[in-house]
Amino acid sequence: MVSRVIPVDPFDLVIFGGTGDLARRKILPGLFRRFRAGTMPEESRIIGSARSEHDDAEYRQIVRDAIGEFGGDEKEDKAGIDAFVERLHYVRVDAKGDDGWKELAGMMRDGIIRAFYFSVGPSLFGDIAERLNRFDVADDKSRIVVEKPFGRDLQSAKELNATLRSHFREDQIYRIDHYLGKETVQNLMAIRFGNVLFEPLWNNHYIDHIQITVAETVGVGGRGAYYDKSGAMRDMVQNHLMQLLCLIAMEAPSQFDADAVRDEKLKVIRALQPVDYHHLVRGQYDAEGDQPSYREDAEDPRSFTESFIALRCHIANWRWAGVPFYLRTGKKLKARSSEIAVVFQDLGHSIFEGDEKRHRNILAIRLQPNEGIDLQVTIKEPGPGGMRLIDVPLDMTFADALGPEAEDVPDAYERLIMDVFRGNQTLFMRGDEVEAAWAWTDPIIAGWEARGDVPKLYEPGTAGPDDSAMLLHRDNRRWRDIKA
Ligand code: NDP
Ligand code: BG6
Repeated sequence: MVSRVIPVDPFDLVIFGGTGDLARRKILPGLFRRFRAGTMPEESRIIGSARSEHDDAEYRQIVRDAIGEFGGDEKEDKAGIDAFVERLHYVRVDAKGDDGWKELAGMMRDGIIRAFYFSVGPSLFGDIAERLNRFDVADDKSRIVVEKPFGRDLQSAKELNATLRSHFREDQIYRIDHYLGKETVQNLMAIRFGNVLFEPLWNNHYIDHIQITVAETVGVGGRGAYYDKSGAMRDMVQNHLMQLLCLIAMEAPSQFDADAVRDEKLKVIRALQPVDYHHLVRGQYDAEGDQPSYREDAEDPRSFTESFIALRCHIANWRWAGVPFYLRTGKKLKARSSEIAVVFQDLGHSIFEGDEKRHRNILAIRLQPNEGIDLQVTIKEPGPGGMRLIDVPLDMTFADALGPEAEDVPDAYERLIMDVFRGNQTLFMRGDEVEAAWAWTDPIIAGWEARGDVPKLYEPGTAGPDDSAMLLHRDNRRWRDIKA
């Protein structure tokens, strides 16, 4: 397999919050990998910006340290790092005041793409957007990249959209959901729309139900203050799991372009039915040994925020009527494992005498780790003894099938940032999509708040609270095992 480097036009990327955690952990190491891959044209520059006082040399050292701490194998490339940091500059800017903006405007160059990454708290998004225009830092072709969380409910998302749109056109706004940049998430579209095999079966005539699981082993330690105001519903379901659901459930777009794909995703979100509280389970991880409980991590002994959620939802359209979608995500679970499992219906009638087991085809798409596809099929158990049937996996691990280069793919952030320079919004959320997702999420949250719902405690290292298993047992179904 030959890895292809698709160059982009020269750019100036300004990272507001260029000294922050996200910039150091993801954005800058990712940009270094793209630099090494040859995707960053000669004239391009990265301009870090924050309130603290630094000169270029100090900022370059911050970035060297970040690559050393968060980079992969590439951190050993000392010559590469030396060359990369030459592209870096720093300007002190106060998002809430007027300091630094004229200097930043003076650095901008005509004929070069200008992109502005808002890697700061959401309360600063509006201030930065307004100053980018007022000080003529942005031009008509500039792009802004906006981090999550995009609002905390429908009202705040609408306000944020209105603020951003008062300064930039929708085609200049790139709302990040890093799940859309993951290789296997994009593979979902390739599997569905690049094969003749699955599409005819992709509906309520053949599919019994769908499970979407995003399980993590980490807790919220270190991020407790943010997470406790958010919880698994706002942090994961409203955005990442919603995007997975859309890609699994949407109709084929007429072509693979930004608005065609996003139009189809929007239809799915708008067709989502309200979730009945009987079909919703919230959990909080307990302490284990010397490991703190959720409430200790969140530093609130009375917190009712969920670190786990499982729910059943339905999409009211012809394709999916009657097919439950089970979603679950949580922290401190037994393994880091994300997958989508499409569970097909029973055969209906078996011609094999004595075969009483329920055989089902299951298409499991493993998003991380160990990315691949696994199709469970029924075959004859080898050997004598009559027609005994067993279920076996037709397993395709991408790394085995495609070789080491399958692992050498850009990380989600690198890919998405490069798409910003290419002007490709397909893997970014449109404003109406985000609002529709909140419009579905808000009543669910309002419902549990009104009921005074208390999350169920669960032991770390398990699959979450027992009630989560019950959610499926009641429907005569069961979750797939969470395993790495
Ligand atoms: P940090 O608190 O680590 O960094 C915030 C950055 O903003 C710092 O560089 C800070 O520098 C700068 N800043 C703060 N106030 C101002 C101001 N008034 N003017 C200019 N710069 C300012 O936050 P994170 O990096 O963790 O998060 C940034 C954004 O990314 C948030 O929206 C977050 O929700 C999102 N995000 C973060 C993830 C992560 O893993 N960290 C994951 C997903 C999303 P200084 O104090 O010097 O000004
Ligand atoms: C972030 C959430 O958006 O996604 C985190 O805020 C979560 O809570 C993370 O841990 C998961 O991302 P990934 O790429 O590790 O699956």
